Amino acid sequence: SLPVPNVQDLAQKELKEVPDRYVQREAESEHIEFEMSDQIPVIDLQKLLHKDPCISSNEMAKFHRACKDWGFFQLINHSVDEELMRKMVCNAEEFFNLPLEEKKAYAQVPESFQGYGQAFVVSEEQKLEWSDMLSLRTLPVYQRNMRFWPKKPPSFSETLDKYAFAMEKVTFCLLSLIAKNLGVEPKKLTSIFDDGVQGTRMNYYPPCPQPEKVLGLSPHSDASIITLLIQNNDLPGLQIKINGNGWVPIKPISGAFIVNIGDAIEIMSNGLYKSIEHRAVIHPDRARISIAGFQDPRSGVLIGPLQGLLERENVATKYKAVNFDEYLRQYFSAKLDGKTMLDLIKFEKNE
Ligand code: SIN
Ligand code: FE2
Repeated sequence: SLPVPNVQDLAQKELKEVPDRYVQREAESEHIEFEMSDQIPVIDLQKLLHKDPCISSNEMAKFHRACKDWGFFQLINHSVDEELMRKMVCNAEEFFNLPLEEKKAYAQVPESFQGYGQAFVVSEEQKLEWSDMLSLRTLPVYQRNMRFWPKKPPSFSETLDKYAFAMEKVTFCLLSLIAKNLGVEPKKLTSIFDDGVQGTRMNYYPPCPQPEKVLGLSPHSDASIITLLIQNNDLPGLQIKINGNGWVPIKPISGAFIVNIGDAIEIMSNGLYKSIEHRAVIHPDRARISIAGFQDPRSGVLIGPLQGLLERENVATKYKAVNFDEYLRQYFSAKLDGKTMLDLIKFEKNE
């Protein structure tokens, strides 16, 4: 990727207008149309696991619809220590608030997706996003590159280590429940995440004098199995595209995870569960920090529609099986642009 300016630094320069390379959209061309009923479902993990079958089956049905119709939901009563989540976000905030020179010690190096910098810059002409990020591989432990893990604040590494395992636990739990809802052996799904890869990306979105012209993050769907997101305040920045109805802003619930289904599950569920396009927008005078935990399959795993599901539903295979490493390689070699990668392996589009 190519070196580009630090956006946090740029945003401190009291600009009247954003530089041309950041102008990605015209305010007039977009009307956000949504109703209050468009808010994503709230799923209660305690209810999903409840021993009273009335409560659990009701919540499981709700969970199934959330994955099918929305691809996004907020997870409450997830049993991850909320103090740990708050601490993670505070540690990220403290890191981003360090002087630029100190953060540069963790700068991305060419051909690596880890470190501090900006995302997905593949050409000189490419429009830039109004954000900086710190991206780290957090699991499996032996694949960590500690050179990119900030030493400041001092508690950063310990907090991230704990947070990584907490996310892993929630992921295993959700995966076995998804398997149940899809009517397949839990192992068929959970096994792809044994020794699974977890990437944690901390995003810093500085305020912007012309927020309607920029994007914090361009529209994309996540390649992951699932993604778990938390943020530092209640600013709505994340927006999702649901049924071509424009962009729906997500109102984060304090203490909840915002969870989305990634491409890997859309493929494995043969399109029944949706990996939804989303983007991040910017606030005129407040910074927003989000932490996205991408729960990815184990390295080298082949991802394809689940056999049990295809047989039972008696439906045609929509997606080709892909080696997930190859999928990721292609995913990161282009600028984010909607669901282009999924389209590439769809049968009807290719034949
Ligand atoms: C993401 O899509 O990974 C992050 C979006 C956000 O910051 O809410
Ligand atoms: Fe994303």
